[in-house]
Amino acid sequence: MCGIVGYVGSKSVAQVLLGGLARLEYRGYDSAGIAVIENGELNVVRRVGKLANLVNALEASPAEGVTGIGHTRWATHGRPSEGNAHPHADCSGRIAVVHNGIIENYIELRTELTTTGHVLSSETDTEVIAHLVESYYAGDLVEATSKAVARLEGSYALGVLHRDHPGEIVAARKDSPLIVGKGEGENIVASDIPAVLEYTREVIPLHDGQIALVSADAVRIFDEDGSEVAESETEIMHVEWDLEAAEKGGYEDFMLKEIYEQPKAIRETLRGRFVDGQVQLSELVMSEEEALALSRVFIIACGTSYHAGIVAKTLIEQWARMPVEVQVSSEFRYSDPIIDDETLVVAITQSGETADTLAGVREARERGAKVIAITNVVGSRVTREADGVLYTHAGPEIGVAATKTFTAQIAALTVLALKLAQVKGTLDDERTRYLWDEICVIPAAIETIFAEAPAIERCADEYYNSASMLFIGRGMGVPVAMEGALKLKEISYIHAEAYPAGEMKHGPIALITEESPVVAVTIQGHTYEKVVSNIQEVRARGAQVIAIATAGDADIKPHAEHVLPIPATPESLSAIPASVPLQLLAYYIAKKRDCNVDQPRNLAKSVTVE
Ligand code: M6R
Repeated sequence: MCGIVGYVGSKSVAQVLLGGLARLEYRGYDSAGIAVIENGELNVVRRVGKLANLVNALEASPAEGVTGIGHTRWATHGRPSEGNAHPHADCSGRIAVVHNGIIENYIELRTELTTTGHVLSSETDTEVIAHLVESYYAGDLVEATSKAVARLEGSYALGVLHRDHPGEIVAARKDSPLIVGKGEGENIVASDIPAVLEYTREVIPLHDGQIALVSADAVRIFDEDGSEVAESETEIMHVEWDLEAAEKGGYEDFMLKEIYEQPKAIRETLRGRFVDGQVQLSELVMSEEEALALSRVFIIACGTSYHAGIVAKTLIEQWARMPVEVQVSSEFRYSDPIIDDETLVVAITQSGETADTLAGVREARERGAKVIAITNVVGSRVTREADGVLYTHAGPEIGVAATKTFTAQIAALTVLALKLAQVKGTLDDERTRYLWDEICVIPAAIETIFAEAPAIERCADEYYNSASMLFIGRGMGVPVAMEGALKLKEISYIHAEAYPAGEMKHGPIALITEESPVVAVTIQGHTYEKVVSNIQEVRARGAQVIAIATAGDADIKPHAEHVLPIPATPESLSAIPASVPLQLLAYYIAKKRDCNVDQPRNLAKSVTVE
């Protein structure tokens, strides 16, 4: 949902901004631009399309300077065009603004500004901010920005530059992420950590309502009421990731690298969670008595995180015998949900910034529920809004399609489910230990699946021209199928649907032709024979079948054109290994269709707007 970056220091500002934008491009990529202060004037360069177009423009006509701001856009208001690209300037051309978020009252502000003589030239909501700052400016850029943001309704992360303040950037945020990377004689403002890692691993997360005045040697932070936060009270986080973690490291794409990082991500997420037979989960932030009093669990999430939530429902219900409801956050927030102080709400969001999930967290807490967030991003918004935070340790995920964060979420949720079962006394020690031992071998199981990559690629060769694919499964196979279908559609643009296999004959089987392959999650378990029957039904109607099956399962072979094996795992733990071949299948199909797997069309990595 747009990436912003700002730099003050002695390096070539354009190079720093372009480097930062390259690491933020996953947030939006329909246009990009920078503004630098050059010889006492603002130089604004913007281009529609990918960042490469801006890079080419700056190669042809370099921009020099030591202070600047940059932006990569995911369009909300106004189509992708050069005129709508950021930075946006005021009437005088002295002020430039980059923005991530949505200004909900921009039409009203636009009318007010044009009535008072301002000339606005874009279709965006952002441009009003530049003109508001202009109208409030009387020599103090922080004051003008503060007055301007007080007029805004909606969400924003802002970088503001003024020609007459050559060594300064003003940054502000509300409901959109923004950090300041603290360097030596240089500072960098950004929407996300990867953009600052080349310069520093010391990061100040700005809080909602705060405004920062950033110069090369200092970062001064002001609260919403204008009072300055004492330096000793400024929260500085040390980021564990290094730059290498945010780069491709020899892989062709981030997505492929991230698929291969899953064993590590899961090991890191599980590390230290089982000691002397006891599941360690202090993040639950409640006493054993309070946990015992919980009567149900409500899981909220979007997209891939929602699919992890469906996996967790089965685990918690089976192991802890507690009823679990799972709802997409955008529905939950408006559904007048029935939750109370005996409900544990689990908010799953890899980015920690998804607007609907954050709204759901607030809704749940207002109704008295305890909220535990599962996220991959340290210091993200959800970490400040939830009662407890359970981190996945997957490292930065740059590819827009979630892969390693999905399986790491399932690992974290598995720990949560085991903990609840232990608290409720619904699993005996022997069973708990058995399950834990089985969970711990999943990373090694994934490594054996990687050996199947050539076979998965050959399978992709046969189906990459399909117009549509169906994904079916039962039990744990259902969320696996849903996630497989989402991966395929988002990166290859092939229409894909997922159904519980038993539902096929209630309608979707009408879609089956020889041209629509079916991916069947057919892992060993209590519904195995049922899925095989469903496979026979679709094959009888001409479908070609790709089966995800347990290694060594000879019975499945006559029923499928392709069998993609996964190592034997207890049924309840099969979601992680079963998802990996589907990630690779989607990846290879998309590559054969020449799709940009890291930056699929119309998408952005974190959805910070409703
Ligand atoms: O950051 P979040 O986990 O809250 O993001 C939720 C979805 O936007 C995300 O999973 C999305 O569906 C991905 N494109 C899936 O690959």
